[in-house]
Amino acid sequence: MHIEQNKPLKSLNTFGLNVKAREFVSIRSEKDLIHVFDNYPEKEKFVLGGGSNMLLTKDLEALVLHLEIKGIKIDSGENDTAIVEAAAGENWHDLVLFCLENNLGGIENLSLIPGNVGTAPIQNIGAYGVELKDVFHSCRAYDVESGTFRTFLKDDCQFGYRNSIFKQTLKGKVVITSVKLILTTKNHRINSSYGAIQQALENSGVSNPSISDISEAVIKIRQSKLPDPVEIGNSGSFFKNPVITHSHFSDLAEQFPEIPSYRLENDQVKVPAGWLIEKAGFKGKRFGDYGVHDRQALVLVNHGNAKGKDILQLARLIQMTIKRIFDINLEPEVNIID
Ligand code: EPU
Repeated sequence: MHIEQNKPLKSLNTFGLNVKAREFVSIRSEKDLIHVFDNYPEKEKFVLGGGSNMLLTKDLEALVLHLEIKGIKIDSGENDTAIVEAAAGENWHDLVLFCLENNLGGIENLSLIPGNVGTAPIQNIGAYGVELKDVFHSCRAYDVESGTFRTFLKDDCQFGYRNSIFKQTLKGKVVITSVKLILTTKNHRINSSYGAIQQALENSGVSNPSISDISEAVIKIRQSKLPDPVEIGNSGSFFKNPVITHSHFSDLAEQFPEIPSYRLENDQVKVPAGWLIEKAGFKGKRFGDYGVHDRQALVLVNHGNAKGKDILQLARLIQMTIKRIFDINLEPEVNIID
């Protein structure tokens, strides 16, 4: 194993930020991981997966462990299901395509989400009516303190909206090395409830969609409003959709009758952050090389040579403005490294 010095990370974070890792090592197996922890116990470590959910505002002083462990295998499951085990360094969308090729259903709605398999459980990735937790079986992770591997079953993971135990109490304490999903081999549970999917299927003249049709619909929707990180640096939704009380929502609805909402349990209401940001006038705003995407206001973008600090400053400005206009606190969805 070779530790590289001053490694540029521009191509390893989807925001395309030009920062460096003072020390960087590729982790291609669980053995590599054990080796690094055993041999460099004193070094602070930073685990980098697909780099798709982070805002790097400065060079990293810690030893960066780039997870590149590969491999996907299918095991048979019970009652028309299969268990697919994928290593942390597999690209998420490649896994989706692999599953479609093998007629395995369950993650087609999660097509084209940037990032790697190992980070998917950390924020319980979700889109178009499906979350990772809906198909999650378990994951295997290295426990930094004990130096052993542990298995986390679904119920251990405390999955919530873009949240899990790995983002909370286990943050920095475990490194996920593989993930197991329970997928259907037949009688797939097609989820086309999301309005935009229905519209896309209708546009393509599909009335009885297969899992591949759903995937194609999702890909079309995402491509129509979310920027491709290869072309324009971004990290998907920058903020979470906020949840407010019903009485707060009623007050806002008097002032803004067109405000969209999703009713939740316990007298709570979820409001799309993209709408709030658009209403506050930020959609499509560009400040030099950074700004707000012109087709989805929840996405902050790097048009070229933006600095992480600039994007962070814009995020703070958006938060303050949303607080002032709507009295709502927007919480970042991306991991801010500052
Ligand atoms: N909206 C606007 N203006 C905008 C953007 C959105 O008014 O510029 C309003 C519209 O009313 C729209 C609603 O917000 O109907 C919802 O927008 P969208 O369907 O684009 O979804 P979202 O709530 O903004 C969430 C996830 C996305 C996921 C989509 C689809 C979060 C933080 N984001 O976005 O996930 O793809 O739903 O399920 O929950 C991600 O996490 O990185 C991500 C892209």
